Amino acid sequence: MDTDRLLRELSDFLRIPSVSTNASHNADCRAAAEWVAGELRRLGCREVQFLASGTHPVVWGVGPEVPGAPTLLLYGHYDVQPPDPLDQWTTPPFEPTVRDGKLFARGAADDKGQVFCLLKAIEATGGRPPVNFRFLIEGEEEHGSRVLFELLRREPERTRADAVLIADMAYVAPRWPAVYTTLRGLCYAELTVRTAKTDLHSGEFGGAAPNAHEELARLLGRLKTPDGKIHIPGFYAAVKRPSKRELATWKGLPFNESEFLKSRVQAKALTGLKSHSVLERLWALPTFEIHGITGGFTEDGAKTVIPAEATAKISLRLVPDQKLKVVERQLTAAVKRLAPRYVQASVRFLHGADPATVKVTHPAFRLLDQAFQEAVGRGTVSARAGGSIPVVPALGRGGAAVILTGIGLPDDRLHAPNEKLDLKQLWDGIKVFRRFYELLGAGVDVSLQRRR
Ligand code: BES
Ligand code: MN
Ligand code: MN
Repeated sequence: MDTDRLLRELSDFLRIPSVSTNASHNADCRAAAEWVAGELRRLGCREVQFLASGTHPVVWGVGPEVPGAPTLLLYGHYDVQPPDPLDQWTTPPFEPTVRDGKLFARGAADDKGQVFCLLKAIEATGGRPPVNFRFLIEGEEEHGSRVLFELLRREPERTRADAVLIADMAYVAPRWPAVYTTLRGLCYAELTVRTAKTDLHSGEFGGAAPNAHEELARLLGRLKTPDGKIHIPGFYAAVKRPSKRELATWKGLPFNESEFLKSRVQAKALTGLKSHSVLERLWALPTFEIHGITGGFTEDGAKTVIPAEATAKISLRLVPDQKLKVVERQLTAAVKRLAPRYVQASVRFLHGADPATVKVTHPAFRLLDQAFQEAVGRGTVSARAGGSIPVVPALGRGGAAVILTGIGLPDDRLHAPNEKLDLKQLWDGIKVFRRFYELLGAGVDVSLQRRR
């Protein structure tokens, strides 16, 4: 493997600041799409198209035809999360740098590095690819995937394949590759509280006038209490506890609560529903998080003002059987009910996703397990994931087996400063997926080709 060249190529991809949530980066998102399209052409794709958006196009590709071989759809995303806070990066987020065998950059693990891994594994098969490849590499995953959702609603045939391979997650622990059976969904919203027509002097009015920040803080405090319970009527109705058997298999995973607190969370204590194990809280329970609060006076210095309006950006993670549409209604109703009558409270939904459940029984899972076994010396364990990938349910709707896996590690710092990818994981990953493609193409299991 020419690792110098590969590192150079991945670094070119990572240097593009394709932050999808921020319109000032539209041209960069487009440039990242062009980068992906260039790779697909180099892989000999018969068809490479930009679909559904000028600024955040879905890159669609159709690989060389391999008669009789299974069809494998590769999904990934070329967009990244905003890099802030910038001052906490040791080296700048869009200047990829190798330190200690790790490549540091925004998108190194999520998801450019992993998309790169899937593509370079095809190149590594040399010559003619062993399976019929299809590609859907989108540029809006970090912002709710609206463009791809619309596309798949109009053109569901794009997902016609035997299997969909998604490398947008991590090993459960170093040396422990995994496939994932569930993803949490997401309901992202802005909660705004208005208490008066305009801001007021806190000396003239303080003591008698309502304060928007105070009301917002109280409202948030009512929506989720210190015991970790979320007070949205009906919210937990669809939540099912994992089976005894599943909980027992989690006990076999290399996960330790105090180690998780000490080296991953790096806080003084863990929070949440004490009645449930930490893995249950991370994988099988819904959440309520506050991402940021705006309004009032936040500049340098001091200003004595009673703010008339305050907004919180919040999100709820959803677990299997919860439905985004239902939760949106429940949240709106709860806010109306919990806000005092003299407060105008409103909810605006920004984006969201239903949770996803996938079966890991399709023969392709055995082949991936074998590929990991051969390439890194250990097969896959099945686990659940706490994160979300909005289009996963839609990708599986046509009957393809959806394979959720990845080559990252749990300490890759996704969405945070100093995101990284261990280069060993990348080089191993290329070997793993290459082997997987070969096994799939060898028709080890013919039943694969009969499924639709
Ligand atoms: N790759 C992540 C999802 C992920 C992370 C799954 C870790 C499993 C473990 C993805 O890029 C992501 O961050 N998704 C967003 C989706 C949202 C913005 C709609 C998320 O989970 O916050
Ligand atoms: Mn991702
Ligand atoms: Mn992400």
